[in-house]
Parts: sequence; C-alpha cells; structure tokens
Amino acid sequence: MQLSPLQSRLAASLMASCLLIIIYFTLFSPHFAMALELQEPDQIVTDEPDIPSFDRSILARAPAGVTALTNNEAMPMNVVPGTTQFFVFTVLPTSSRSLELRSEHDGLLAPGEEEAVVAVEPPAGAQHRPLAKRQSSRMVYISANTCEQPRAVNVSTTAQSPPQLTLYVSTSPSNQSPGPLPGPVQRDVDDQVAIEFVEGAVMYNVTTTGDLFMGVSAPEIPSGFDGSFNFRLAASTDAYFYTYNVEDDADLIWVDSDSQGALLITHNLTQSSDPVIEQKVMSTQPYVMFAQNKNDTSIIGLMHSFCGLENHAQIAATKNGQFSAMVSTGMTKRGQGNLPKQQFFFTGLNSSSSYLGILARDGNLTSGNGQIAGGGHVFKATNFSTKSDHGNCAIIVDLEFCDQVAYSVPSNPNFGNATKLAKFYDNLAIQAYDNFNKSLAQVPCEADSTQRYSLVRNCTHCATAYKDWLCSILMPRCEDFDNPAPYLHPRAMAQPFPNGDTLDEATRAQFPLADTRAFRQSRVSQIDDIIKPGPYKELLPCEDLCYNIIQSCPASFNFGCPRPGVVGFNSSYARRDPSGLLTCNYPGSAHLESGARRAISSSPWAAVGFVLGAVIVLLI
Ligand SMILES: *[C@@H]1O[C@H](CO)[C@@H](O)[C@H](O)[C@H]1NC(C)=O
Ligand SMILES: *[C@@H]1O[C@H](CO)[C@@H](O)[C@H](O)[C@H]1NC(C)=O
Ligand SMILES: *[C@@H]1O[C@H](CO)[C@@H](O)[C@H](O)[C@H]1NC(C)=O
Ligand SMILES: *[C@@H]1O[C@H](CO)[C@@H](O)[C@H](O)[C@H]1NC(C)=O
Ligand SMILES: *[C@@H]1O[C@H](CO)[C@@H](O)[C@H](O)[C@H]1NC(C)=O
Ligand SMILES: *[C@@H]1O[C@H](CO)[C@@H](O)[C@H](O)[C@H]1NC(C)=O
Ligand SMILES: *[C@@H]1O[C@H](CO)[C@@H](O)[C@H](O)[C@H]1NC(C)=O
Ligand SMILES: *[C@@H]1O[C@H](CO)[C@@H](O)[C@H](O)[C@H]1NC(C)=O
Ligand SMILES: *[C@@H]1O[C@H](CO)[C@@H](O)[C@H](O)[C@H]1NC(C)=O
Ligand SMILES: *[C@@H]1O[C@H](CO)[C@@H](O)[C@H](O)[C@H]1NC(C)=O
Ligand SMILES: *[C@@H]1O[C@H](CO)[C@@H](O)[C@H](O)[C@H]1NC(C)=O
Repeated sequence: MQLSPLQSRLAASLMASCLLIIIYFTLFSPHFAMALELQEPDQIVTDEPDIPSFDRSILARAPAGVTALTNNEAMPMNVVPGTTQFFVFTVLPTSSRSLELRSEHDGLLAPGEEEAVVAVEPPAGAQHRPLAKRQSSRMVYISANTCEQPRAVNVSTTAQSPPQLTLYVSTSPSNQSPGPLPGPVQRDVDDQVAIEFVEGAVMYNVTTTGDLFMGVSAPEIPSGFDGSFNFRLAASTDAYFYTYNVEDDADLIWVDSDSQGALLITHNLTQSSDPVIEQKVMSTQPYVMFAQNKNDTSIIGLMHSFCGLENHAQIAATKNGQFSAMVSTGMTKRGQGNLPKQQFFFTGLNSSSSYLGILARDGNLTSGNGQIAGGGHVFKATNFSTKSDHGNCAIIVDLEFCDQVAYSVPSNPNFGNATKLAKFYDNLAIQAYDNFNKSLAQVPCEADSTQRYSLVRNCTHCATAYKDWLCSILMPRCEDFDNPAPYLHPRAMAQPFPNGDTLDEATRAQFPLADTRAFRQSRVSQIDDIIKPGPYKELLPCEDLCYNIIQSCPASFNFGCPRPGVVGFNSSYARRDPSGLLTCNYPGSAHLESGARRAISSSPWAAVGFVLGAVIVLLI
C-alpha cells in the first residue's frame, strides 16, 4: 500500500510520538518508582543518606508500620511497653500557599512561618531568596497526651507511678524510624531527639525542610504494673494541638469550702466593661475542671494530659466526665471590678480532705480535630481542702440582695438546705438595710455638686459601702473551730455543736476571754437563736469596710469605726495582711489573692473613727 505524502508525514510523526512516550515512561514512569519502592524497602533509605531530590515521592509515602499524620488532627494509638510506634508528617509544599498568604493574608501567617520569613527578608531586589527559604523551611509543632497508662496491680503495695512515654523526632531521611537506642538499625544519635513526656504530655517544636519522622516509645514497665499505654499524637504547622502551662500563676482561685463542698472561680475572663463584649463572654463557659482527692493516685503521671484527666480524674466537670453531677458551673460577675468569671461549685466531697483542682480548656477530640489548638489546654493545679465534719459552716452563693457574698457562713444541718440558709441570711440583711435606706432618702443626692455632701462621693457610693459592710457583718465568714489561725475569732463557744457536743474545759481554758460576750455568742443574735451553729471561728471583716462608709456617707449619719488597739476592735475587724494571706473578709475575697492588690491606707480614717466613737462596732 502506498502512502500519500500527507499520510507518510503523519505516520512519521506518530512513530516519533510513540518513541517519545516510550522514552518518557522508561525514565520517569510512576510504575517504575513503585517497583523500586516494593523491591527495596526501608533499608535502602537508611543505607543511602543522599537520596536524589526527585525521589521525594517515594520517601513521602508512609511505609508499613508507619502512620501518616494530618495537620491539626490527633492520632490515637496504643503502644505496648517495650515497643515504639512510628509516624511521619509530610510538610506539604508551601511555595504556592506561602505566596498566596504573603500577598493576601499577611496577618494570618502561623507564628513559625512568619518568623522564618522575617528572618530571611533581604533588601528589596533580591526576591528569589526569601521565596526559596519559605518554600523549604517550616516550623512544626508536635504535641501528645497520654490517655491511658499501665495500672498498679495492687494500689496498696505499689506507691510509685508508671514510667512516662518518650517522643523521638528525626528530620533526617536516613532515620525514618527514630526510637530508643540500640534499635534494630544502628544509626547516629545526632540525627534524632528524645523528649520524655511530663505528667502525660509533651510539646516540641522543630523547623524542618522536609518530612518529619516521629516515634513514640513505651518503656519496659517494672513489675507490679499491668496494661499498656494509649496516647494521642498531633503535628501542626500552625500551633500546638495539645498544650499545658504549669509555670504561670494558677488560673483557678479557691474561694471557700465547707465540709462537703468547695467554690472555685477563674480570673476575670475579660477586662473590658463594654456591655457587648461582656454579654458575649457571659454567654460562654470556656472552661472545664477536674478535681481529685490527693489521697487518690489515679491521675499521677497524667496531670498535664486532657484525656488522661478526663478518663481518670475522680471528678471531671466535662460533658462526659465522671461524676460531673457533683459540679455545677456558671458565669458570675461577683467580686472586685464586677467582671465576668466562671465559677465551679462542688458538692459531695469528703470532709477534712485535701483536693487538687485542675482547670482546662475543652479538648473535645470530635469537635477539636481539624481545628488549630483543638486538643485543649491544661492549667496549673490549685490546692484546696474541705472543712471538718462538724457541719456548722456551709457555703451560700447567688444571694439576691447580698450578691457579693459567696463563702461559708455559720449553719446547722438541721436548719435546712443551702437555699434556705441563703434566704435566711439575705432576709436578715434586707430588713436591716431598710432603716438605712430611709435615712439615705433624706439626703439631697440629686442636688448639684455645690450642695452635695461630698464632691467625689454621692449616695450611690454611700449605699454600696453600707451594703458591703452590712452583708459582711450579718454573714460572718465561718471557719472550723479547730482552725488554729491567730487572726480568726472564736464565736458561740457557750453553745453546743449541731451533734450536741459541747466544748470541754481544756479547750475553753485556751481562751482567756471565753466568758466574754464576743466569745460566748455570735455577733448577730439571730444566728444563735435560729440557726444554732455552735462553736465556730469567724474570719472578721476587713477594717477598710468600715472606713469606706465614713468616707462615702454624709457626716450627719454619725458613723464611726473603732481604732486598732482600742477595746472592741479585735472582736470586730481585722487588718489586711501585706503578704496576701487572707486574714480578713471583704466582698469577692478568696483564699488565694490575685497578684495585684490595692494598698489600703488606714491612717486618715482611723482619726475620724476615734473622734466619732465606736458606733459601728455595736452588735445589731
Ligand atoms: C494488696 O496488698 C495488700 C498488702 O500487701 C494485701 O493485703 C491485699 O490483699 C492485696 N490486694 C490484692 C487485691 O491483691
Ligand atoms: C520552640 O521550642 C523552644 C524550646 O525547645 C522554645 O524556646 C520556643 O519558644 C518554641 N517556639 C514556639 C514558637 O513555641
Ligand atoms: C478582676 O479585675 C478587677 C479590676 O481590674 C480586679 O480588682 C480583681 O482583682 C480581678 N479579679 C480577679 C479574680 O482576678
Ligand atoms: C488521706 O491522707 C491523709 C494524709 O495525707 C490521711 O490522714 C488520711 O487518713 C487519708 N485518708 C484516706 C481515706 O486514705
Ligand atoms: C471519699 O472517701 C472515700 C473513702 O476514703 C473514697 O473512697 C472516696 O473516693 C472519697 N471521695 C471523694 C470525692 O474524695
Ligand atoms: C464533642 O463535640 C461534639 C460536637 O460539638 C459533640 O457532639 C460531642 O458530644 C462532644 N464530645 C464530648 C466527649 O464532649
Ligand atoms: C499544693 O500542695 C502540694 C503539696 O501537697 C505542694 O507541693 C504544692 O506546691 C501546692 N501547690 C500550690 C500551688 O500551692
Ligand atoms: C431546699 O429546700 C426547700 C424546702 O425547704 C426545697 O423547696 C428546695 O427545692 C430545696 N433546694 C434544694 C437545692 O434542694
Ligand atoms: C431604697 O429606697 C429607694 C427609695 O428611696 C427604693 O427605690 C429602693 O428600692 C430601696 N432599696 C432597697 C434595697 O430596699
Ligand atoms: C454617683 O457617681 C457615679 C460616678 O462616680 C455615678 O455613676 C452615679 O450615677 C452617681 N449616683 C448618683 C445617685 O448620682
Ligand atoms: C488586739 O490584738 C493584738 C494582736 O492581734 C494585740 O496585740 C492587742 O493587745 C489586742 N488588743 C486588745 C485591746 O485586746
């Protein structure tokens, strides 16, 4: 058959094309690459450190037994003692993404990325260098939490906690399975880093140009333990998925406790008094909390791990946590500054026991996966303890009138529940406030500043000062009678405890003034007559609550405060302690003082108080 010139030219070009295709496939075939990978597994990598760069695709594939991690997603995994689990995190080519981010969303760059860019930013005109750098080097944040660890077979004979896991990290393609030495393959120690978990958590960052290889290794466990480890590992180019911070001051403040309960609050969640922001913060509940009797060892070794705490803490105030019914949480604006805080109110605790409280931001694996830092955050633990089982101090919260009161007051289990107790005290205050309110109504509050009683204070200040004082006088802050702190004042020593016991002579003899009114009775007679708490100790109100009334209210009210050193002062007020110890009660006070405290200067008012006489010291 003869071909026309056109046909023969077509045939020639077809043949050329076929040849080209054959040559292409011979040189660059993906099948060829697959074959190479299948024929020559793992060792080729370790034996040949200088792999040419076009073989990248081979290295990026996770070999058998190696788990590939996805950005910002936690990988749950079991590891048997004495073995290691291997992971690879492929840092995606970032050239196009970096360019895009750089031009359009400059502010959204991840911290590590931003740093790298800034660090190599050359003078204008040398554009190619920073691009090359950005393309090849990224900060990777590796973090992990231990969710399960081997358990002691017999808790009463095994005192220590099981050993911790270790994270191994390698950025070297020649060490794709970093782990404890000596391993199955000998290699240089320089090409891997070992980081031991601390209390079930690890955080490590590394800047890498290529893939990141990780091993999580479980040590051999001593006898007396049984079971294996379970952990969650996450890698991210944005931020740590799991975090903890035990360096900063505790973010959880122990306010007060009674024999079965405790009240804890967070710091102010915002410093803003903008109603919109405040409303937004008040509608959230950003924190969860764990509590643990210090005698219970179940969380030792897991105290920095969110899932470890959720699985093993005695009380977990999380959605699915253990005994979460023992905790109620909510937002409150109580306390200095009236700023939003989250509060946790525990019930059903053991009396005279020490507890650890651990605050955390939720690390919900389901909703957290895929989110930057979605694994949660664990804060430093706070110590708190419960009172003895005399049962004559009880926490009251959420009072209608005395809305700043949230602490233990004298009580009696036979009187009724905390709601009834709170109502009793609140009514006491409402009745007592009424007379004052009538007097205040006589004062020209609305007058312009020249006719007012003070240029800086008005009736609002006076009413607030009086209310703060009244609530703290009528609701004594209650402590165990056994509490030996010198700044506490014994009350109601002549009365029996709720169980009928009375103080013996030896105990009474320790108090030379035991027979005086200030020791025999409560400050407010209704407490002894109706509640009948029996002997307790009072954390006296701070002296500045009294001075504040003198400063804020019209002189015609004739208020006065006792001066320190004068009869009556010691059984009425106490002074603040400069070291931050809670030695007196004031609205919003807690056991642990926050760092910044206002300095209270007492001298100007003390003189006034002396002149006016000790009016306010009198019992109501
Ligand atoms: C645990 O050890 C204690 C003390 O040796 C022993 O009395 C107890 O029976 C042991 N418990 C179990 C479950 O083996
Ligand atoms: C990375 O880790 C080092 C310590 O290894 C630490 O000093 C540094 O702050 C970390 N960087 C970031 C961004 O977390
Ligand atoms: C909240 O903020 C106020 C005002 O800034 C401050 O006085 C108070 O101590 C803070 N409270 C806590 C619990 O940090
Ligand atoms: C808890 O530990 C304290 C000492 O720290 C001890 O006095 C108390 O008896 C222990 N309670 C229990 C229930 O083990
Ligand atoms: C209370 O004490 C009992 C007995 O010691 C213990 O089993 C229980 O776990 C404790 N409960 C709390 C909430 O501390
Ligand atoms: C996690 O969050 C998802 C969606 O917000 C929710 O359905 C699930 O119950 C949560 N799980 C836990 C353990 O809190
Ligand atoms: C809590 O108590 C332990 C002792 O049980 C102590 O070592 C630790 O320092 C205390 N923590 C704080 C924040 O006071
Ligand atoms: C407290 O007792 C009153 C009755 O005196 C009852 O109506 C109320 O529901 C109780 N509150 C709680 C929280 O148990
Ligand atoms: C105080 O009196 C004013 C009227 O003079 C009244 O509006 C206010 O509700 C009273 N406050 C209380 C707490 O009774
Ligand atoms: C008193 O002064 C404060 C500001 O210092 C103001 O907010 C308040 O409305 C004043 N109260 C009266 C009754 O004028
Ligand atoms: C008041 O207490 C202080 C120490 O707290 C003491 O030095 C002083 O003598 C007491 N004053 C009176 C009048 O009892």
